[in-house]
Amino acid sequence: MHINPKFIKQQFEKSMDKYNENAIVQKIVAQKLVKKLVDIETNFENILELGSGTGLLTQEIVGNIKYKNYYANDLTEKSKQYVLKIIPELNFICGNAQKISTTKKMDLIISNAVFQWFENLSKLNIHLNSLMNKNGILAFSTFSKKNYQEIKDLIGLSLDYKNLEELLAIFSENFEILVTEEFDYVMQFSNPLEILAHMKHTGVNSLTTKQWTFKEIKKFCDNYKEKYPNLTLTYSPIIIICKKKS
Ligand SMILES: C[S@@+](CC[C@H](N)C(=O)[O-])C[C@H]1O[C@@H](n2cnc3c(N)ncnc32)[C@H](O)[C@@H]1O
Repeated sequence: MHINPKFIKQQFEKSMDKYNENAIVQKIVAQKLVKKLVDIETNFENILELGSGTGLLTQEIVGNIKYKNYYANDLTEKSKQYVLKIIPELNFICGNAQKISTTKKMDLIISNAVFQWFENLSKLNIHLNSLMNKNGILAFSTFSKKNYQEIKDLIGLSLDYKNLEELLAIFSENFEILVTEEFDYVMQFSNPLEILAHMKHTGVNSLTTKQWTFKEIKKFCDNYKEKYPNLTLTYSPIIIICKKKS
């Protein structure tokens, strides 16, 4: 599926005000990611966070990790307002993480719930490696192919999610893998419209530029109730922490 960064940016900007109250799984994953990182290292000179959004992950990092310089990146400038409230001395780099450059080399590059939006992870692997100091740590979470399986089944749309083995094959080229974890988290709703609202408020309606008609929404709701009467929505997070090979 082709990913249009301009459209993703617009959709995430619209979702930001309601993101934190809806991003239940993203918050759980951010907490797990930082907890696992703390077991490895708690002190980094230069940290770069990719796709900082409303600062859900930033919040976890500042409470648990020491740093000298903090760089946060997002496609949207609006993210800066949120992250500045958490880190007033922040360096914000607005732009596509797949292309950004930094003035210093990083000791930690970290990202929560963003890598599934990147178009070419093999290129990203090389790019991130070039931004890091020797022995630098890359810690990220993303989602596997089971993520949003109900939506893929019902409307045929999905990001190009990778499974753990595929991610390891890509990142083990330049990184030594230290930690991996994958798990499922199934959310339950009382109405299919709530599922649509949940997707909107977490920015996931960036999957399609098409506005649905009333008839299409009704069809989606009817099909959902028929195929998934428990009104579940599956999340399948993956966490990887790895170290730059020398
Ligand atoms: C699901 S949100 C995650 C936000 C935050 N990391 C968290 O843990 O809640 C995804 C974020 O990644 C950003 N994003 C998506 N594609 C990006 C890209 N190519 N470069 C930089 N940021 C990107 C979006 O603007 C959005 O803020």
